[in-house]
Amino acid sequence: GNGAATAPLRILVANPRGFCAGVDRAIQIVELALQKFGPPVYVRHEIVHNRFVVDSLREKGAVFVEELDQVPEDVPVIFSAHGVPKSVPAEAERRNLLYVDATCPLVSKVHRQAERLIAQERHILFIGHEGHPEVIGTFGQVPEGRMTLVETVADAEAVSVEDPANLGFLTQTTLSVDDTAQIVAKLKERFPEIQGPRGEDICYATSNRQEAVKALAEQADVVLVIGAPNSSNSVRLVEVAERSGARAYLVERASALTEDMVGGASTVGITAGASAPEVLVQEVIEALSAHRDVEVSSLTTAEENVTFKLPRALAG
Ligand code: F3S
Repeated sequence: GNGAATAPLRILVANPRGFCAGVDRAIQIVELALQKFGPPVYVRHEIVHNRFVVDSLREKGAVFVEELDQVPEDVPVIFSAHGVPKSVPAEAERRNLLYVDATCPLVSKVHRQAERLIAQERHILFIGHEGHPEVIGTFGQVPEGRMTLVETVADAEAVSVEDPANLGFLTQTTLSVDDTAQIVAKLKERFPEIQGPRGEDICYATSNRQEAVKALAEQADVVLVIGAPNSSNSVRLVEVAERSGARAYLVERASALTEDMVGGASTVGITAGASAPEVLVQEVIEALSAHRDVEVSSLTTAEENVTFKLPRALAG
């Protein structure tokens, strides 16, 4: 650029950011299924909440549908990383469909905890966001009426239960760590006998990315979160950055970047939600450096080395 007269724009890139082990595995499952079975491979719901990922898999022969009844006979179908209600694999089995479940193992873990609480004859208060596919999937692990959604502290204050001595709670994996702590504290205050996970079920990737974006927001005037508007963990990153005092924007990719967003900033922080590919981060950095001098460095708050095994049908 011709910014020789002004100081270069500092770009701080958060670490960890972007793909988590569950997203990485889900994308790999679709790619391996395409190799093994050949296209088309059907995928129920966006495999992960990112249009770029979905479009590139579509180009390789994946077909995305919302419900199983849109899947023809004799083609393999994959269930997305967010998890599915029990009725979905049951229906696939009834129709004799070949299916591969790409549910993140950390979501499956919550599903098993839900079953355990039901086996103990407890009613479950589930902390999550209404309508999110993970929430629909987790509700679908238990019989109708055995789980109640709690979205806010106000909900936790208001929820009425039949038997406070026989309660459990669970959470969505991609919530705000701070909000959830408050909701859990309220539930424990009202229902001291409630059973649940030690802290919550928020996954390592969600909490690491939130911690990283907090550190970023302390140093940057503006934080850009690369991610999709339907990606829960990405939207949470914007909130966390704002609460930590930065201006923050959710940016799907470089073409969505406007001069207004970074105008007047001397340090721009960049992170990415767990479903946002690194190429989109690099694209945004390139766009920022097109018109000015930049100085890129990274801010590391945690090391991650989590990986998940592939389903047996596709491994090795
Ligand atoms: Fe799994 Fe957490 Fe990623 S639940 S899909 S590791 S955001």
